Amino acid sequence: MNKKDDICIYFFINFEFKKIMCGIVGYIGKREAYPILIKGLHRLEYRGYDSAGVALINGKQQLNVYKAKGKVADLEHAVESKDISGTIGIAHTRWATHGEPNQVNAHPHYSESEELAIIHNGIIENYAVLKQGLIENGYSFKSETDTEVLVQLIEHIKKTDKTDLQTAVQLALNQVVGAYAIVVLDQNNPDKMVAARKGSPLVIGIGENEYFLASDATPIVEFTDKVVYVGDEEIVHLRRNKELSIKTIGNVVKTPEIKKLEMTLSQLEKGGYPHFMLKEIFEQPTTLATSMRGRVNIEHNNITLAGFIDNKERFLNAKRIIITACGTSWHAGLIGMHAIEEFARIPVVVEYSSEFRYRSPVINSDDVVIAISQSGETADTLAAVELAKSHGAFIYGVCNVVGASIPRAAHSGSYTHVGPEIGVASTKAFTAQVAVLTMLALMIGREKGTLSQERYLQIVAELGKIPEKIKETLKQDDLLAEFAKTFTYAQNFIYLGRGYNYPIAMEGALKLKEISYIHAEGYPAAEMKHGPIALINEEMPVVVIAPHCGTYDKVVSNIQEIKARKGRIISIVTEGDTIVRDMSDYSISIPATEECLVPLLAAIPLQLLAYHIAVVKGRNVDQPRNLAKSVTVE
Ligand code: AGP
Ligand code: GLU
Repeated sequence: MNKKDDICIYFFINFEFKKIMCGIVGYIGKREAYPILIKGLHRLEYRGYDSAGVALINGKQQLNVYKAKGKVADLEHAVESKDISGTIGIAHTRWATHGEPNQVNAHPHYSESEELAIIHNGIIENYAVLKQGLIENGYSFKSETDTEVLVQLIEHIKKTDKTDLQTAVQLALNQVVGAYAIVVLDQNNPDKMVAARKGSPLVIGIGENEYFLASDATPIVEFTDKVVYVGDEEIVHLRRNKELSIKTIGNVVKTPEIKKLEMTLSQLEKGGYPHFMLKEIFEQPTTLATSMRGRVNIEHNNITLAGFIDNKERFLNAKRIIITACGTSWHAGLIGMHAIEEFARIPVVVEYSSEFRYRSPVINSDDVVIAISQSGETADTLAAVELAKSHGAFIYGVCNVVGASIPRAAHSGSYTHVGPEIGVASTKAFTAQVAVLTMLALMIGREKGTLSQERYLQIVAELGKIPEKIKETLKQDDLLAEFAKTFTYAQNFIYLGRGYNYPIAMEGALKLKEISYIHAEGYPAAEMKHGPIALINEEMPVVVIAPHCGTYDKVVSNIQEIKARKGRIISIVTEGDTIVRDMSDYSISIPATEECLVPLLAAIPLQLLAYHIAVVKGRNVDQPRNLAKSVTVE
């Protein structure tokens, strides 16, 4: 199987998944550790956190721990005039699960002797019983966290069994129930650190006589493109100037699988844009082309998705396809449903992962489950995947992060390949998800014979033109910025669409909600008369997606109903359509395209409208309040 394109089969991971968003960074090598660690924490801020801390072993083998509630900037303030020297260190941004967000509960945590320090991402579910045992052995605790229990347990084992650090970590983790990514320092051994993971992500960067650790590759990418994604229940032993070694908590030696990072630092920088979100909106012509590269062959007018080809029979024999996802990825799933049912004639159900996993769904072994997740770490979607797998279903992941938990849990899949999406509001990942799902639908339809060769060729040819058409659509950014100034008064928006564009109406509404904090609702246009039209007045902006295809005439009637009640219309129309344009208060045009591909174009002005309204309202566009990029909690 072509690993570059697709998610190869990984070992089945059967665990209760309670991942927490936070950030882990570690360094051991020849450079001063602190600058690398702090920059790494800044790179991980988008994951969401409530406190931060750092631990360093200086040249006199003193283990110094500094912590602060609040932002990384607060930690930087806290360490001013402190000894932050040392070429080995660990750092952490915390998302509290046990113990309120404060300085004491922040990581790193010392062991009782203050010879060890630990950082941890995850939950130790049986921490209470472990803590009770340690108290009976005379240990006391400073914090309310489950993490401190783990470092005390490691120290207790190290002292009583007289073992080295990695053995103590291994024995301790055999007593632990829960999810973890940990890194442990020992001030008496400043030339090594021990890391381990189960359920929470951990990546090792391999430099020249130096190692970097992080929760994802963003803190690592500027130093090296050689990485190892630590597997579940694996313990990593990092020693200065020595090869890294990996063992499982069952003491089985593993050979590190070194991968080449696909990210570049420039992908991480804002590239001159004021916000990551705007950069990522404008990247879409490129990222959509990248998501199709090697897959849509315009010359031969065909599509190849290796993940599908290697598992064709599962799809062709599927009596049903279940799509499971959250948020924006769920909207992409709805569009995938339209395409798969239209072209492949296979029944599709689209499920919110959080609902699917808890409602005792009927899942058959001949079901195909498509799990869509940009981060590949969304706890509810991963749990939905595990549930479906336990019923024998075939799992196909559509994810953006190589080596993330969901692609590792899937049997196969397709990466969206849009590079890191830093803005919390998903944009480029969304259009790539829609593109991958459309490619999949076209391939299944072609293989099943439910889609004629002629129709298939027409759509494939048009799909190849979409990146250029997105570029055209982006040229109206200034117009949308102008519109945005008009609507900052609004307390509510309604977004309307039909068919393929109903999910886009919901996606446009979500974008506005999550970054401008204005309430908005996406609705099927025809449903207005079944209640919501009572909301319409001259204050209410109504965004209508009205491409000149499909049910165009019906949408025109819906617009007339709204105008009759003085609603303010913002329309997305096909270039050259003057009818809807002249009915609208504001109108944005998109190039003509196939009905099934309109979502790839209509999404763009709605992303920009939400972005500009949020900017005019002075919102934190890249890190909106209450939100995190990767929702790894239930
Ligand atoms: C979308 O803009 C939001 N950030 C959110 O709805 C997101 O799509 C959802 O949390 C799912 O995330 P995932 O794709 O990483 O699983
Ligand atoms: N459960 C640990 C705590 O509450 C770690 C949480 C996290 O992953 O940040 O401190």
